[in-house]
Amino acid sequence: MWCLVSYFVLLTLQVAGPVAVLATTAVSSLFFIVSFTTRYDANGTPSSVLPLPFLVFLCLSSPTALSMAIERAIYLDVAQIGLTWESLYLGDFPLIIPIVMLAFDSLFYFCLAMWLDKVVPGEYGKKQPLCYCFQPKYWSSSLRYGAQDKQVDSKHAYECVNECEHIEPIPEELKALNKLRIFGIKKTYKTSSGPVDAVRGITLDIYENEITCILGHNGAGKTTLVNMLTGLTPPTEGTAIIYGKDIRDTYDMREIRKFTGLCPQYDVLVDNMTCKEHLYLYAALKGIKKSEVDWEVQKILKDVDLIDKADCFTRNLSGGQKRKLSVGIAFIGNPKIIFLDEPSAGMDPKSRRHLWTLLKNKKNGRIILLSTHFMDEADILADRKAIVSKGKLRCCGSSLYLKTKFGIGYNLKYV
Ligand SMILES: Nc1ncnc2c1ncn2[C@@H]1O[C@H](COP(=O)(O)OP(=O)(O)O)[C@@H](O)[C@H]1O
Ligand SMILES: [Mg+2]
Repeated sequence: MWCLVSYFVLLTLQVAGPVAVLATTAVSSLFFIVSFTTRYDANGTPSSVLPLPFLVFLCLSSPTALSMAIERAIYLDVAQIGLTWESLYLGDFPLIIPIVMLAFDSLFYFCLAMWLDKVVPGEYGKKQPLCYCFQPKYWSSSLRYGAQDKQVDSKHAYECVNECEHIEPIPEELKALNKLRIFGIKKTYKTSSGPVDAVRGITLDIYENEITCILGHNGAGKTTLVNMLTGLTPPTEGTAIIYGKDIRDTYDMREIRKFTGLCPQYDVLVDNMTCKEHLYLYAALKGIKKSEVDWEVQKILKDVDLIDKADCFTRNLSGGQKRKLSVGIAFIGNPKIIFLDEPSAGMDPKSRRHLWTLLKNKKNGRIILLSTHFMDEADILADRKAIVSKGKLRCCGSSLYLKTKFGIGYNLKYV
């Protein structure tokens, strides 16, 4: 009956909560097996017709173990034996068994939750293989991180590079600064109305000490590309190598995250926390030393021009101010690579100017990858512009290269 009710609730709401309710109800009903198979002798002493190992197995369900423990405790009370250290071991199925099993269940469920969290595919992030904990590199950090920096085989790289013709040739000295290489990356979302090709094979090199702008219309695939590079969405095909680490490798991705800052397209802020509290939280997550946290938070607040709003709850900030805070969060911890997905959306012209100055001042020693659909923003900021349309890279190069190549700009004629 309860299972049916839970099932209909689950169908109606379709959320994780009802799944838990259904599972708990179904598992709790196992206790009825124990109840229906318990017999009482002339003295009222209970004994089960089920074998002891099966009863222990049923105790793997914690509601069942708890019910059995309570039943045993009630019996000891009713039989006027009382609950003592000695009575814990009385009978065919002593009370100590469900108590020990409850402790075991806590540990078992904890491990199960950890395992499921890693292997069950969610909306974000790449999941581990089912037997991830049996892989030697899961246990050995030297196997994980001691390996050589990864390179994609040259044949694959060559094929990918050939896909887009309009790429500015790179001077020899810049090649050493090529720290982010994207190789034929693709993403296809499966939707109820069929597959959606959000990114259809992008190959791109991104350099240190430069601001690279991904310029494209709405729906071009900019956010999907950023999400793949930051490990939020696994690519369907292709890969990217960031500072020698492969984004397809879960362990590499964990390393990449340590030196990455992200300002997502939509602000991920808690309404009831102030700007300062957000920065403290992210500083702690990034592992900034306690002695440096205050200084770092003040510096970021100053950089993004939010000193006046430091103690203001984010629910009271304007859209532009929230973007500033998100940019600040991306910069906290001095990351080597910063992804900014439409950072200036909703900012007033003065704030945009301020942001552009900040980004230009910060570009040395790091990669800044910024997506935008504003031509002027890309023109002013970008050392290199990658124009993306319908999930494909159409051209990439400096403003001068693109203007020479495609004849964009002004023509001065003498008459
Ligand atoms: N989770 C998703 N499921 C299905 N389609 C998606 C999803 N996310 C994005 N898309 C589709 O992928 C395409 C690219 O989206 P997006 O990367 O957000 O573009 P942009 O950031 O350039 O505006 C769009 O057509 C969008 O509808
Ligand atoms: Mg977007």
